[in-house]
Amino acid sequence: MTRPRRQAHPPKRNASPLATRVRSMIQLGQYAPPTHTIVHLSDTHYLGARRALYGTLDTDRTVARALEQLERSGTNPSAIVITGDLTDLGEPDAYERLRDELEPVAKRMGSQIIWVMGNHDERGPYSSILFGGSADDIAPQDRIYDIDGLRIIALDSSVPGYHHGELTDDQLSWLEEVLAVPAAHGTLLALHHPPLPTPVEIMAIIELQDQQKLAEVIRGTDVRGILAGHLHYSTHGTFAGVPVSVASATCYTIDTSGPPDTLFGVDGGQSLNLVNLYTDSVVHSVVPVGDFRQVAGFSDVFLEKLASLTPEERREAFSSKTSTFSVADTERSS
Ligand SMILES: [Fe+2]
Ligand SMILES: [Fe+2]
Repeated sequence: MTRPRRQAHPPKRNASPLATRVRSMIQLGQYAPPTHTIVHLSDTHYLGARRALYGTLDTDRTVARALEQLERSGTNPSAIVITGDLTDLGEPDAYERLRDELEPVAKRMGSQIIWVMGNHDERGPYSSILFGGSADDIAPQDRIYDIDGLRIIALDSSVPGYHHGELTDDQLSWLEEVLAVPAAHGTLLALHHPPLPTPVEIMAIIELQDQQKLAEVIRGTDVRGILAGHLHYSTHGTFAGVPVSVASATCYTIDTSGPPDTLFGVDGGQSLNLVNLYTDSVVHSVVPVGDFRQVAGFSDVFLEKLASLTPEERREAFSSKTSTFSVADTERSS
């Protein structure tokens, strides 16, 4: 059984109408701008024929909204990682629809899409529709990506016919081999089942099995972070000394304020994560997906004005409680 080991490369950055909004981050504090910005989405759960999930949930709406927010932000991430459960039942047209929705946006932003298998996905259609493989492919869908020196490894933790997660001995030896050579900017692992405990008791039944084996493989390597999904709520922890970040779902979320012996799925709180990689840190920021009313803020004119000041002037203008530096005046005079 041969596992795909394709090395994917990010596409060239494209000019687009939105490109004018793209700018580099300005260093206004102690940290230099991030070396990489990655977007982390999870659990889109598309059904075929655009059927509503549970007969009521429009899965496509939140994905479209999330992509709209991303483009509007001008962030232009190097990669968009989607940590599994791309579809709910593995239907081919559900993969096609998701691919057709994401690819144009990723192309405009110059982002590499990194698909990851989930327990609701099926290897055949996943492989054939997203990677041009065979529809009969039953091999684990593990792939390595080089994102400007940052290695992202998509690991397939699915078990055909089941919802719990597993990494086979063959997958773990392969991973060990890959990690033996460090990458310039280190490695992120992306897999569906997070190697973390969960306060939602029932989810433990479908957790990643034999997590200790994975811990042995990644301890002491250049793995800087683990991105996962599956839980449908944002959660963070550490595993073998490595930070783990679970992105919530875009379809429906689990309300963890429900009693621990229940499962409380709700149509609300959908989000995506922005992952900023700095020289010595990986920072995950949760971005709520939705159409919210803006009640405060300032424009890029104000930020540029601040950037033009010396660090001391800046502190007085923006940090001092007696500052007379006015957003309105600055924006009016521009
Ligand atoms: Fe899911
Ligand atoms: Fe899942």
